[in-house]
Amino acid sequence: MNITQLIDNKKRHIDLLLLADEQESMIDRYLERGDIFVLDDNGVKAICVVTDEGDGVCELKNIAVTPESQRQGYGKRLINYLVTHYSGKYTRMIVGTGDVPSTVNFYKSCKFEYSHRIKNFFTDNYDHLMIEDGVLLKDMIYLKREI
Ligand SMILES: CC(C)(COP(=O)(O)OP(=O)(O)OC[C@H]1O[C@@H](n2cnc3c(N)ncnc32)[C@H](O)[C@@H]1OP(=O)(O)O)[C@@H](O)C(=O)NCCC(=O)NCCS
Repeated sequence: MNITQLIDNKKRHIDLLLLADEQESMIDRYLERGDIFVLDDNGVKAICVVTDEGDGVCELKNIAVTPESQRQGYGKRLINYLVTHYSGKYTRMIVGTGDVPSTVNFYKSCKFEYSHRIKNFFTDNYDHLMIEDGVLLKDMIYLKREI
C-alpha cells in the first residue's frame, strides 16, 4: 500500500471525489488550491483533498473510499497519514460533513470531536436536495482534531 500526492491533472479521480461531494461545482471551489492524496493498494482505493485555511488550520475537504473497499480501514489509514504528514505544519485539522451518523462515527473513530455547525449550508449552497443514508442534509457539522 502506498499514499502519494497528486501534483497535476487534479481531476484524474473526479469519480471518486464525487462520491463524497456530489456536485462538481462545489469540488471546483477547493480542488485547485488543495493538496490531493491517493491511496493505492493494488489499484486506487481512496482519495482526499486538504486545504490551508490559515492560522495553523487545515481542512479535510473531501475523503472517499471506493464502494467495494469501504470498512476495510483505508479511510482511517489515510487520515492517520495526513496527521503525520501535516503535524508540524498545522496545529489543527477540521472537517465539515452532513449530520449523518455513519460519517460522523467515522470521524469520531479517527479522533475528531464536534466543533460547530453551519446552519443550512447544504440547502443554501447545493443546487439540489442532498440525501445521504436516507437523511436530508441541511446543516454542515464541523469536527476538529489537534494534530
Ligand atoms: C466515510 C468513508 C471515507 C470511511 O472510509 P472507510 O475506509 O470505509 O472507513 P474505515 O474502514 O477506515 O472505518 C474506520 C472506522 O470508522 C467507523 N465507520 C466507518 N464507516 C462507518 C459507517 N458507514 N457506519 C458507522 N461507522 C463507520 C467504524 O468505527 C470503522 O471501524 P470498524 O470498521 O472497525 O468498525 C467511506 O465510507 C466513504 O468513502 N464514504 C463515501 C464518501 C463519503 O461519505 N465521504 C465522507 C464525506 S464527508
